This record gives sequence, structure tokens and C-alpha cells, in this order.
Amino acid sequence: LTRNRYPDLKKGPYADLTGQDVDYFSNLLPGRVLTDASDLEGSNTDWLGTCRGSSQLLLRPKTTDEVSKILEYCNGRKLAVVPQGGNTGLVGGSVPVFDEIIISTQLMNQIISLDDISGTLECQAGCVLAALDSYVSDSNLTMPLDLGAKGSCHIGGNLSTNAGGVRLLRYGSLHGSVLGLEAVLASGEIIDCKSTLRKDNTGYDLKQLFIGSEGTLGIITAVSILCPQKPKSVSVAFLGCESFETVLSIFKQAKHSLGEILLAFEFMDSASMDTVRDNLNLTSPVSEFPFYVLIETGGSDGKHDEEKLTAFLENQMSSGLISDGTVATESTKIANIWGLRERMAEGLMVDGYNYKYDVSLPLSKFYQLVDDMRDRVGGLATRVVGYGHVGDGNLHLNVTSPQYDEELMSLIEPFIYDWVSKYKGSISAEHGLGFKKRNFIYHSKSKSAVDLMKRMKLLMDPNGILNPYKLLPDN
Ligand code: FAD
Ligand code: MLT
Ligand code: ZN
Repeated sequence: LTRNRYPDLKKGPYADLTGQDVDYFSNLLPGRVLTDASDLEGSNTDWLGTCRGSSQLLLRPKTTDEVSKILEYCNGRKLAVVPQGGNTGLVGGSVPVFDEIIISTQLMNQIISLDDISGTLECQAGCVLAALDSYVSDSNLTMPLDLGAKGSCHIGGNLSTNAGGVRLLRYGSLHGSVLGLEAVLASGEIIDCKSTLRKDNTGYDLKQLFIGSEGTLGIITAVSILCPQKPKSVSVAFLGCESFETVLSIFKQAKHSLGEILLAFEFMDSASMDTVRDNLNLTSPVSEFPFYVLIETGGSDGKHDEEKLTAFLENQMSSGLISDGTVATESTKIANIWGLRERMAEGLMVDGYNYKYDVSLPLSKFYQLVDDMRDRVGGLATRVVGYGHVGDGNLHLNVTSPQYDEELMSLIEPFIYDWVSKYKGSISAEHGLGFKKRNFIYHSKSKSAVDLMKRMKLLMDPNGILNPYKLLPDN
């Protein structure tokens, strides 16, 4: 019954789903088993609408024990599975390739505890990021990560992709803020790494293996994460810049002058601004410039923070680095400004097909890639846009066209990966490898490192049932 949508790829050595399997799961999870094709449609298709599987079964466990029983059964039967959180992943990792069973964390959305002294939050993996942020905010805390998909993505999905987002500059990556987790291996064995301690050097730090492993080593069922204090005052500045060199100079100055209150430093080019204006009807608060910078500050003393930001901006103005900009301290205005940057992914989708790249590059080479790509693809593309977490050296380069175009794709790949590799960048800064980028892993990782990854996969999932065709390359 399975359709091969990827002609170059064969289904692995996995069993086909039977009526008996469905009966087993229906007994285990009464009322939480979906088999209807129309109910499964959304979960079979990724957020970008570019990857599509044909799973016939979606399971919605509520407890770790249920996840364990599901995996034990699937492992015994050699049924392949794909873990799914909010299905906002951007590399085709969260949807089946063939008929893998979808294990959704939708109903694993309980908060376990919050220690408002240490700031440690413990919760199940299916909690939605925005819901967690609003929960901890009552205790004057905030989540250490924030991203455009916060209204749908799950914390388990965030850990599994090691999501970065717009606060990484200030709070660091999840490898630092996750204190512990619980995961279930393919065999059904529950691995308890549920520490809530800030410091714990007793042996290998196994939780790190699951962070960024994109559901290939185990299913994360619970998380404990360190939440920083919520800033008492937040301000956002949105500035127009004449060149990318100016963006970098402002960044250097911002780190120097704003110091500990600097929360985010994002950039977008004029083609990005055109995208949200043309496709989402958003209006820019500043006049037209080749580049824009969004700076967010957050601190504990509104007056002091505002003074600091104002002095910084005045300096940039008087040194001629910026000639137009706006500052917001009121939440609706802040949200409108953030919308210009955070709704970029949504805006690009309106063009039709979105060739999405997410790379790390040395800042000296950062924007040259966008210029080179524009020259290379010429009129074949609707747009070539560059935006992203410039403060973290992370560029989002996107190309669009009305529909998928083979010729355009052949101009983009492998050119982009070769380019990034030449300058010792990473071909995936934060989105992961998933289904789309796994065969380019050698552009960023050595053969010895990939070989060890393969051995770890074999140890933790000997039958390869967990998220096959993802992250690891074919060869
Ligand atoms: P899914 O998409 O459901 O899954 C992602 C991967 O994790 C899949 O491989 C899946 O199999 C696996 N997985 C999911 N849950 C589990 C689990 N419990 N255990 C094991 N494996 C699991 N990413 C960034 O890093 N920074 C950004 O700024 C950013 N912004 C975004 C903005 C938008 C509008 C969108 C649509 C996406 C954005 N992303 C960003 C992509 C990002 O990866 C996801 O938003 C998020 O981290 C994925 O969470 P999810 O719950 O949707 O996971
Ligand atoms: C972002 O930073 O906006 C996200 O990573 C999504 C994207 O790359 O478009
Ligand atoms: Zn991003």
C-alpha cells in the first residue's frame, strides 16, 4: 500500500502494519489511535509542504510508560516509527518518509514542577514552548529559548533539534540550559537522566546525546530546563543600515556598549523586508535600506536600560552608522517589530516553493554567500533573501520560486554546501539535517565523527526503527 514518493530511496527492512498491530495499539491507547487518512494528512506533511509520507497510524501516548510499551512492541515487530512534536521542523525530519508509525507527543503536555528559586522547570516533552513561557512568567521566569514557531513547537521537539532561535545570543544553547531529561530507547528501555542539578560531573553526560539527535536515538519524554529571570524591562530597536559592514560594526558596538542587557541581535536584508511586505502586508517602521538590524535589550531596571540603549543609539547616529531607526518599549509595538523578522518563514511560503538553508559562517564571509547565490540563480528565482541570527553567526539563506524547479535546485545544491564547507562553516546551524540534508553531513563533519555516530545509532537502536532515513547519511 505504501507509495514511494522518493524514487531513489527504498523502504528499509521494516514490517508492514497489520490489523493486529492496530488492535494492539487500540487496546494500549483507547481513543488515542488515529488511522483515518484525512486525520493523518497534516501529520504526514511537513510545515514547508515539501516532504510527505504515507503513514497509516498515529499514536498519542500520555505517559512515558505508554511510549515504552509502544517502542518495545514496534522493536519486536520491526515497525519503523517517527517521533513528532509540533511538526514545525524545517528539514523534513518530523514526518514519515514511507509508512512509519507517527508517535506524537501532543498529549504529553503536563508540567511536572517548577522551582522558582533555582528556576528549574520539569515538564513532559509535548508542552508547547509558548505555553511554558507563559506558565513560568507567573514566577518572573522566562524560557531560555524563543523562536517564531513557539505557538506550536513542543519542548521535546526543541531539544531533539537543539533549536537555537533568537535568544541564544544571551542564554546560550540547550546543551547548557537543559539540566536533565528522560528518554525511551527503541527497545522500550526508559533512560532516566532526570537531573535538576546545575552541576553534576558523575560520568558521561548522556542527556547531551539526545539533544540534537532528531529522534534517531530515543524518544524524549520529559525535560528539566533552567529558566532565567524574566527581564523586567524590554526594549527593541529597529535600524536601517547602508551596508552589511555597518551591520557588523553595530553588532560589535552593541556587545561593547549594551553588554549584559543585550538579548537579541538579528538582521534582515531588503529582499527579506520585501517578502513580508509583499506577502504578509506588513509595513516597515523605517524608510528603505539595504539592511535592517533588530536589537532587543532586557534588563532589571527600565530607566537604566533605556538610558543605556539611548546612549548607544545616539553614538551610532553621530558616528554615521545609522540614519533611521525606531525604538519600542510598549509590548504591541515590540510584537509588531518582531513580526517583521519572525514571520519571515511564513512570508516566504506565499511565493510557492521555498529552498531553505540555515548555515553558520564566519562573519567576514557571512553575506557574501547571499550575493553569490543571487548572481548564480539570476532570474530563475522569485527571490533570494538573507536574514537571521547574525549575532550567532547564523545565516538563513532562502530562495523561492512559484513551484519546485529542478534546474534552479541544481544551481543551488551542492553549490551552497561546497561554499559553506570551503569557509569552514556548518551546513546546518540550527534546523538539523533531517531527511533533506543528511547526505551532505560530510560537508560539516569528518568521516571518523560520522562513523562513531553510526556505531552509537547501532548500539542504541540496533534495528534502526527510530526515525529511519533521517540525520545519518545513506553511506
Ligand atoms: P517536530 O517538527 O515535530 O520534530 C522535529 C524533529 O525532532 C524530528 O526529527 C522529530 O522526529 C524529532 N522529535 C520531535 N519530538 C521528539 C521527541 N519528543 N523525542 C525525540 N525526537 C523528537 N528552529 C530554530 O532552531 N530556530 C528558530 O529560530 C526557528 N524558527 C522557526 C520558525 C518557524 C516559523 C518554524 C516553522 C520553524 C522554526 N524553527 C526554528 C525550526 C525548529 O526546528 C522547530 O520549530 C522546533 O524546534 C521543532 O519542534 P517541534 O516540536 O515542531 O518538532
Ligand atoms: C528563523 O530564524 O526565522 C527560523 O529559523 C525560520 C527560518 O529559517 O526561516
Ligand atoms: Zn532561525
